Formats: sequence, structure tokens, C-alpha cells
Amino acid sequence: MNNITNEISKMEKKITLVRAQGSFVFDDTGHRYIDCTSQAWSNNLGANDPRVIEAAIAQIRELTHARPTFDTPILLKLNKKMQEVAPENLTQVGYCLHGSLGGEMAMKLAFKNRPEARNLITLQDGYHGRSLATLAASWPHPNNPFLPIEPRVTRVPHPDPYRPRLGMDSEQEVRLCLELLEDTIRKGVDGPVAAVMMEPIQGNGGHIEFPRSYYHGVRDICNRTGALLIFDEVQTGFGRLGTMWASDYYGVTPDITVFGKGVGGGFPLAGILAHKDLTWFGEGEDALTFGQFPPSLAAAHATIEAIQNDGLCERAAEQGKYATERLLEMQERRKLIGNVRCPGLFVAIELVKDRQTKEPARWAAHQVYLRGIRHGVLFGESRYLGLGNLIKVKPPLDISRELLARSLDVLDEVLGEIEDEMS
Ligand SMILES: Cc1ncc(COP(=O)(O)O)c(C=O)c1O
Repeated sequence: MNNITNEISKMEKKITLVRAQGSFVFDDTGHRYIDCTSQAWSNNLGANDPRVIEAAIAQIRELTHARPTFDTPILLKLNKKMQEVAPENLTQVGYCLHGSLGGEMAMKLAFKNRPEARNLITLQDGYHGRSLATLAASWPHPNNPFLPIEPRVTRVPHPDPYRPRLGMDSEQEVRLCLELLEDTIRKGVDGPVAAVMMEPIQGNGGHIEFPRSYYHGVRDICNRTGALLIFDEVQTGFGRLGTMWASDYYGVTPDITVFGKGVGGGFPLAGILAHKDLTWFGEGEDALTFGQFPPSLAAAHATIEAIQNDGLCERAAEQGKYATERLLEMQERRKLIGNVRCPGLFVAIELVKDRQTKEPARWAAHQVYLRGIRHGVLFGESRYLGLGNLIKVKPPLDISRELLARSLDVLDEVLGEIEDEMS
């Protein structure tokens, strides 16, 4: 191990965060970092926005907790705001505090509306959370001790534009995957399917965006077979792609949208938006004690207003375009960059040892993460099974151009260092 690698390996220890403001987080040793992870892609609005903090504090002074059998003024106010920004016709709204439970809520509503169905279809490499049902809906976790008691979920293949099967072109692979999906719904499972649940872009499972025709094809198949379509927009929602929802970006409206992460401006909140014609839960069917936690609702209302007033969807589109162009330019010089992914500020690069074989460069990716810390930038990693070679650049949507440029400069510099060491 040379000196620099030695010094870098000391950075493996966990960072203790003590403060955050806007696009910065601060640790207990006085270091400041540009946060290109938005803390698990949750601070779409920069951290500790004063409008959000004030709204939450004002709510805490009035009422911190109300049982879900009661309405509260902030609940009614947020419902209206959610309906204002919801995808077309998804006007029924329900809340909980975690994206995983939002996913379960969506599944439960689908089963309620398809009472004869026992099956759910999801995509391979998908990620929907860590609760029992969402674990089952996600990629197979290694050594999962809960497997025997998980619900019945069938995972189907999806197109992968960077690594299409059998040398197919993207559109051929889309057609293949759509046929496999329809075959699975009609012949691959016992009995009817309640829903097809998917992330519009697979976040944790490899930052995989599908060709546009795939989204439309899945919608058509759901229409033909009677399965509901659930979009898990926990990562893609609230402006990240440059539009309020991925469904706006792709022009395909699901029956149920799951939201989470960015909605609460740093406070825990998640939930679903469901089509107006779906039957909603009966009393007690989805009542969680803190599911409508007033401080989180107040924070979410202030966050959505800030996203609207600050034009953060447009900003994400502009900043994402800038980041993507810079990364594409970098790719011409840095051979480790196999692929540049967007859209909006949903940005990542995949590092490969060789552009022909596309063999993942995991060591290099982890080094980018560690060396980024040394330069005061937190990049996102992907540590899941079979991955580990993605670097994500997903800062708050209101990051300044200067800080975004600085982060990309650091990325360029550390990639150069690593390439030199590898050669
Ligand atoms: C697409 C998606 N769905 C659901 C979840 C689960 O959200 P939570 O961790 O808030 O339960 C995540 C979390 O990473 C996610 O990325």
C-alpha cells in the first residue's frame, strides 16, 4: 500500500455529522463537505431550510401528535397541496413516515382493489425498502432471514441500456422484456396479478433508466391485463428529474405513486397518491399511530411550497444538464468512466476497468468516495450486491453552480489520481 492509499484507508471510519445547511454538512472535527448525496437523496431542498424549520417549529408549538382518526388543519392543508402537485387524477393521498411503509401502503391498496389477486410483479434489481413486504419486492437480499414469511412477489427482467442482453439494441430489448412481463402476468404466476410495481429509474439497484418505450409498454400491459401500475417515486419524486414526478417526465401516469425522502425537507414523511377511482382504505385498514405526524406534515407543506416558489424543478433540469455535459466531457479524458447517467440531478457515472468488457471498477469507485471526503465532497456510492462501481452526484436541487462545479472538479481530479495509480 503506498502512502496515499494508506492515508485514504484511514478515512473508512464513519463520519459524525453535527450540523447541515443548504448543500453543506459539517462533522464533529470541524470539516465541511459538499453533500452530493443529499443524505440518502432526501434533501431535494437544501438541508435545514429556514422556511421548513420555522413551519415545523410553529406546528410543534400548536400540536405535535394527533391520532389518525382525527383531522388536523395541517393535514387538510397538505392534502390540498399534494393534490395540486399530484400526477393527473391521483387525488387520493395517504401518509406514513417511511418510504418502505409507503410501498406497503401501495401494495395493500392494490390488493384491496384487486381482491381476487394474490400476486405482485416487480422488476429485477428494484429496491422498495426494508419492511417485510418491500424486502420481498426488492432484489433478492443475500441470506435474507425473513424469506419464508414474505408475500408472493415475482421479479421480471427489465431492459438495461448499458448492458443489453444478447447484443440486442435497446428497442429489441424493450420488446423482449415487455413480452416477458406480459407472459409472466398471464402464464407465470398462479391467478391474477394485483399490480406491477417499479421504480421509474432504479436508484439503489444501479441507476438504471429504461428507454421511454418501456414505460409506455408497461402501462399498456397493465391496462390490458387489469394489473394496477405502481410507480415507486421515493427517489425520483419532488423535482429530482427536472419535473415534479418521473411520471411527468416520461408521460406515463401510474395508478398509484409512492413518495418519500424529498417530500419532508429533512423530516420523515412518505405515503401514496392514488387514482381517484380506486377504493380507499376502510377505517383502521391503514392507521399508523404517527402516520400523520403534524411536524412532518408542516415541514412537507413548506418544502413543496419552496420547491414551487424557488423553481427547483427547472433548476434541477438546468444543473443536471450542466453536470451531465461536464461528465460527458470528462468521459473523453477519463477512461474509468464507462457510462454517464441522468436525467435532471439524478446523475451518476459507472466506473469500469475496460470499456469493451464493462467489468465493474469497484476499488476505483470506493477510492473516489474516500478521496472525495479528503477534498471536502461527499459522493454517493452503491454498495449493494453485485454493484459498487457507481458514483452518484445527487446534491440538493438548489445547489449553487459554483459548488456543483467544485464537486465535479474534485471528481475529475480524484479520477485522474486513481487512473495514474492504476496504470
Ligand atoms: C425507491 C425507494 N423506495 C423505497 C425506499 C425505502 O424508503 P425508506 O428507507 O424511507 O423506508 C427507498 C430507500 O432508499 C427507495 O430508494
